[in-house]
Amino acid sequence: MFEQVLADRLQEYQGQQLYRQRTLLGKPETHHLKVQHQDQVLLSFCSNDYLGLAHHPQVVEAYKQAAEAYGVGSGASHLISGYHQPHYDLEQAFAKFLRRDRALLFNTGYMANIGVLQALSREQDVIYQDKLNHASLIDAGLLAKAKMQRYAHRDFTHLKNLLARQTQGQKFIVTDGVFSMGGDLAPLPELIALAQAEQACLIVDDAHGIGILGSSGGGVAEHFNVTQRELPVLICPLGKAFGCFGAVVAGSDLIIESLVQFARTYIYTTAIPPALACAALASLKIISAESKRREYLYALIDYFKKAAVAQGIALVESTTPIQSLILGSATRAINLQKYLYAHGFLTSNIRPPTVPTNTSRLRITLSCLHTHEHIDQLLKAISNALNLNKI
Ligand SMILES: Cc1ncc(COP(=O)(O)O)c(C=O)c1O
Repeated sequence: MFEQVLADRLQEYQGQQLYRQRTLLGKPETHHLKVQHQDQVLLSFCSNDYLGLAHHPQVVEAYKQAAEAYGVGSGASHLISGYHQPHYDLEQAFAKFLRRDRALLFNTGYMANIGVLQALSREQDVIYQDKLNHASLIDAGLLAKAKMQRYAHRDFTHLKNLLARQTQGQKFIVTDGVFSMGGDLAPLPELIALAQAEQACLIVDDAHGIGILGSSGGGVAEHFNVTQRELPVLICPLGKAFGCFGAVVAGSDLIIESLVQFARTYIYTTAIPPALACAALASLKIISAESKRREYLYALIDYFKKAAVAQGIALVESTTPIQSLILGSATRAINLQKYLYAHGFLTSNIRPPTVPTNTSRLRITLSCLHTHEHIDQLLKAISNALNLNKI
């Protein structure tokens, strides 16, 4: 009975063109850029390793040396005996980099988001989330005891109306910094003004902005020049621009200490391997010291956007490495991805429930490992697929 229900659900998912498959990749040929799948070598346009740091020799070396010194496991949870010097060093370095009192290292961005909303909110509170926030934030809101309300994407008038209705409890405004599926930015100045007027706490997950935006890579907070007081909780997953793993939450002493005491996803899990913290620290040093990767990436984004316009390809407005082409139905998104695969490109098609119905899209991510030629080749293939009615 139970198995039949599952089988029916899977079949229904398949019928709706929502079934997903993992692409099993072999060893990368040139970092994450050229990946091997079955017998084919594909040029990847779907890695979040925006700055190409996952294979950077200094990052890899830091990881290797720390694995020699600390082994491959941390041995226990943070509050028992799993908290090692590299975890502390990384937290100190991130607090300084993000200009916050303190920072706390979680195992993943998903766990950081769940821990933050669970630990900081209570039953009588309300969490307000942008409709297009990352699934981990939405799940965090569903799991927290507080009530959750979602406002239309980047629509601070809608948010303002929702906030006005709530007279009791603490309010939390929660948003992606750079939206993971469209690459657009949260309207931080407007959200800060609303948070201040309503005495709400603003929480930003800047997974796709930190390392990329701002003159020193400080993300949306640096881009909009906002302080810790204006933006009390800043979340930074390390699997994107840092090319690593884990997530840092930065904020005041009071907030970070509350997370240490109350965040269940921090307390009840084995700490990440110290070697990963060493690798992330090496990435952070490169990000802080070098601006050339960011500058090259921005020139590449500009080139990509102009070249797309020249070919008549209408992209979602975005100034970040996340560029997407809305195709409408899930079938069109699958067909375009398959066409590109057949022509040597690995891209991702994003379908519901990740994005709203009829906004299925091709999501392209650019990395500073790409060249102008790579972009020309990809855009030519997309344009051929669209013009030849291949999708
Ligand atoms: C905005 C955002 N937040 C959080 C996460 C989850 O982070 P992690 O992969 O470290 O769990 C992701 C993607 O993975 C993301 O895009």
